[in-house]
Amino acid sequence: MIYEQLASLIAQALNDELSNEEVETLLEKPKNSEMGDIAFPCFTLAKKLRKAPQRIASELAEKLQAEEIQEINVVGGYVNIFLNQEKLTNHVLHAIMNNKDQYGSSPSRKENVVIDYSSPNIAKPFSMGHLRSTVIGHALANIAEKSGYTAVRINHLGDWGTQFGKLIVAYRLWGNKEAIEASPIQELLKIYVKFHDMAETDESLNEQARAAFKSLEDGESEALALWKWFRDASLTEFETIYQILGITFDSYTGEAFYNDKMKPIVAELQEKNLLTLSDGAYVVEMDDQMPPCLITKTDGATLYATRDLAAAVYRHNEYNAVKTFYVVGNEQSLHFKQLFNVLNKMGYEWANELQHVPFGMMLKDGKKMSTRKGKVVLLADVLAEAVDTAMLNIEAKNPNLEQKALVAKQVGVGAVIFNDLKNDRMNDIEFSLEQMMNFEGETGPYVQYTYARISSILEKGNYKDQSLDFTALGEYAWPIIVMLEQFPLTVQKAFLLADPSQIAKFSLHLARAFNKYYAHTKVLNDDEYQQMKLAFVHCVAIILKESLRMLGISAPNKM
Ligand code: ARG
Repeated sequence: MIYEQLASLIAQALNDELSNEEVETLLEKPKNSEMGDIAFPCFTLAKKLRKAPQRIASELAEKLQAEEIQEINVVGGYVNIFLNQEKLTNHVLHAIMNNKDQYGSSPSRKENVVIDYSSPNIAKPFSMGHLRSTVIGHALANIAEKSGYTAVRINHLGDWGTQFGKLIVAYRLWGNKEAIEASPIQELLKIYVKFHDMAETDESLNEQARAAFKSLEDGESEALALWKWFRDASLTEFETIYQILGITFDSYTGEAFYNDKMKPIVAELQEKNLLTLSDGAYVVEMDDQMPPCLITKTDGATLYATRDLAAAVYRHNEYNAVKTFYVVGNEQSLHFKQLFNVLNKMGYEWANELQHVPFGMMLKDGKKMSTRKGKVVLLADVLAEAVDTAMLNIEAKNPNLEQKALVAKQVGVGAVIFNDLKNDRMNDIEFSLEQMMNFEGETGPYVQYTYARISSILEKGNYKDQSLDFTALGEYAWPIIVMLEQFPLTVQKAFLLADPSQIAKFSLHLARAFNKYYAHTKVLNDDEYQQMKLAFVHCVAIILKESLRMLGISAPNKM
């Protein structure tokens, strides 16, 4: 990687005043490409060395020499570097031709990264927030694998808690087996809402619900059977969404799994003198003026946080992960701060490797997109609509396409996923089918379309995979070479920042750069360079496809 190499060269020339990593973070792209390919600003060093930046830059420029460097200029406090384009071009493209989709992959580290994502609640609709978590978490798992880690994909289902006591009581009073079997989540939600309405005037219902949850916690068989049925039926509904998205998990151990693992945790908190009695409930007092973290209620019942504590300890013993990402909406920020704070107080150093990966809301026409406003907006319907729109597009533009249904699904779903991942995850995102399907916009279909375009060029040109000399590629290819060179670094950055938008933006820039190149260059003109140009665009296609794959999006050859 040229940035890494350059950074170590510069660090050396500076007699290690700065570390390689420090130099690397300082490297930047000059304002325009006529000034150079890479710039190193000397202002930070000027303070440190008490020397004029210009002088540091000149001295540094004297010392820098490498075969990848063509020319060095000092402008103000900057060292501007022109790279040797021919050498670098061959270097990058041969690396891609030799490694194919493994280009940019790190060697296996034999270390686990846990990703806790999707995690919907049983008997409740799969919300837009859960969709975001699913899409972001899936991409992060792929990015972790590309970075050499073993990804452990966990769906921490919301399948435990006092609400299941209410559901059991509601079912016994008003439940209809056939209706629930036909449409589990909708029906279960209906009786759950009814329970709340009725409980407003009938306090005994809440009493019954507490008793029902107690019997569930104690493993009483009838209650357990109902719970299991609610869970299985809900999961079947969730699975249809995972199937459309092409997503799988390594584990569905949700909150219920920790039912028998909380007692030892509470005992440990007690032993470590961390529990305070507050109105009959046990809490852990927090640092930084956070409200206390509730561990057990007055009646001894445990909470969401108690289960997350047990889960963190269990997972540490089971997976010993070097990093854990909790992909959960930013409205749960306080919960995770409290969770990490408690683990810290318990003396667990590994708690520092746990990270909440928050994200913003999904909006429609500028308003929060709710799954339950009057009537339920089913996520499966939203996805189906995207696929239908893609189908209409195909019918209008390419009615003879083979495997239309499959391509429509890949494009429709790709549009939804890309729309989610292209911006910083903290931003709220607007759900507009029209915009996300626009073939010329900053969209998934645009990147997919560019990939399909290259595939058809390769087919027309009878491309044969072979190693070539790329020296005569020409100046229009250069911006693309620079990008391809940056791909491995982009993957690393996406992992470090837990930010799939790094990859999505990269794929957009690469697609745009390719289309610009293609507008300037006749690739299929049967000259002596045709195979070389085809090999070059093939490299672009490999990286576009690999980028989309990491995001969880397919790349059809034709669309
Ligand atoms: N089921 C929760 C919800 O829908 C999300 C769980 C996230 N993961 C966790 N370990 N707390 O709000």
